[in-house]
Amino acid sequence: MLKMYIQRGECLCGTFLLSFSLLLSSYILINTVFRMHSWHHSLKSTMTQTINIQNILANFVFEEDGKRSRTLIEEIEIAGQTIPKFINEFWTSRQRQAHSLHEVSYRACFKPQLPRFFIERLTHEGDVVYDPFSGRGTTIIEAALLGRNIIANDVNPLSALLSRPRLYAPTTDEVAERLEKIPLTSNEQSEIDLSMFFHQRTLNEIIALRSYLSYDRQKTNPDPKDASHTKYAPHEIDSWIQMVATNRLTGHSNGFFSVYTLPPNQATSAVAQKKINAKRNQQPEYRNVRTIILKKTKQLLKDLDIFQMETLRTISKHSQFLTNDARDTKKIDTDSVQLTVTSPPFLNVVQYAQDNWLRCWFNGIDAEEVGKSITMSKTIEQWCGVMRDVFRELFRITKKDGWVAFEVGEVRNGKVKLDEYVVHLGLDAGFSCEGIMINQQQFTKTANIWGVSNNSKGTNSNRIVIFRK
Ligand SMILES: C[S@@+](CC[C@H](N)C(=O)[O-])C[C@H]1O[C@@H](n2cnc3c(N)ncnc32)[C@H](O)[C@@H]1O
Repeated sequence: MLKMYIQRGECLCGTFLLSFSLLLSSYILINTVFRMHSWHHSLKSTMTQTINIQNILANFVFEEDGKRSRTLIEEIEIAGQTIPKFINEFWTSRQRQAHSLHEVSYRACFKPQLPRFFIERLTHEGDVVYDPFSGRGTTIIEAALLGRNIIANDVNPLSALLSRPRLYAPTTDEVAERLEKIPLTSNEQSEIDLSMFFHQRTLNEIIALRSYLSYDRQKTNPDPKDASHTKYAPHEIDSWIQMVATNRLTGHSNGFFSVYTLPPNQATSAVAQKKINAKRNQQPEYRNVRTIILKKTKQLLKDLDIFQMETLRTISKHSQFLTNDARDTKKIDTDSVQLTVTSPPFLNVVQYAQDNWLRCWFNGIDAEEVGKSITMSKTIEQWCGVMRDVFRELFRITKKDGWVAFEVGEVRNGKVKLDEYVVHLGLDAGFSCEGIMINQQQFTKTANIWGVSNNSKGTNSNRIVIFRK
């Protein structure tokens, strides 16, 4: 009897111990997960708080082909503050270092290495990266490839048309299949004379594609922000085809629909093209529109693997593509952006509407109308007037501890120091200025090592003013 009680007691005791240890281990597990979660969060916020961009830039060593260059630091007084200038080569200029998905031509675009430098150092996966002057979408495509959420804005509708389809990159087979279904024969005539660019048969194919895409747009009327579907709808592949065709209109090789045109290819006017044809004694030859679109598709998709495709698709679901003036972007939430990397229109160096007349024609966009909303400042005062409001808006949408990297190239051979004007604008908006970063692509290595400033070569340098909220 006693033995039985002892056995039962042992049994009860065992059950109790087992339950207790189960409870204890669940508690430890939950506690550990909870701690890890909050640890991760606090680490993330500590990391955000402790990022010291000045140290990063000051200690940066560029290495390529066995050569090394250190950062040269200069200082400048602006608005009663000492602003450091960090001069070095901060990324390689080699094109093959950039993802093939970027290879879409656009005037005054920057290299993907530029936004990557900041995205990698100043953001985490899931943070929002923004470009108010998005152009071909270099910043947002690079950010999406790195798993960051994105907001793109550009007053020129061509910008979204050239960037958004790359978040929905289809496979080459899907594009080939789709292209076979699009009828490329047409008797329709172009409203304008384009015979100086295209062989008549090529032009017929372009016009057929243009009509098809425009009809397709009206028919399916896809909402550009509706990215809820997981499978590609046909109109997504059509948007890809439209983006590639827009890119292939004019150029200097047989990879384009046109006869040889002079760079900047997309800007060549009909009159200028006639002169080029006469000078080179050339006539447009037939180019197969389908073959060219497919070839360029393959090139663009060359580096894109299945994981990146998935990442882009996921990011696209929360992406925003706006066509607002950068001064007024109400659709962007206050305190929502972790990093802005951008390059504004400079003084009236580039006339975007004129530049893109043929691309606009192909896409049924009124180039003149777009031209009216594009910032064209003749004087530095006018330019600063516009950018002052842009900075005010950037301050509103930037998160606390968030960043802005504002790139201005060398304007008028370096005579106009736009970067220094930009420092004032950012400070006035409420940001703190972390410094001016000068990326000298052709910086003389010896001069750099010996601490001799050599800022005379301006053409290949980027001047980026870095702000923090
Ligand atoms: C220097 S480009 C940007 C290029 C871009 N970083 C890239 O890599 O493609 C400047 C862009 O600003 C756009 N833009 C000009 N004025 C604007 C405005 N007021 N608001 C928004 N976008 C504007 C132009 O359409 C052009 O695409």
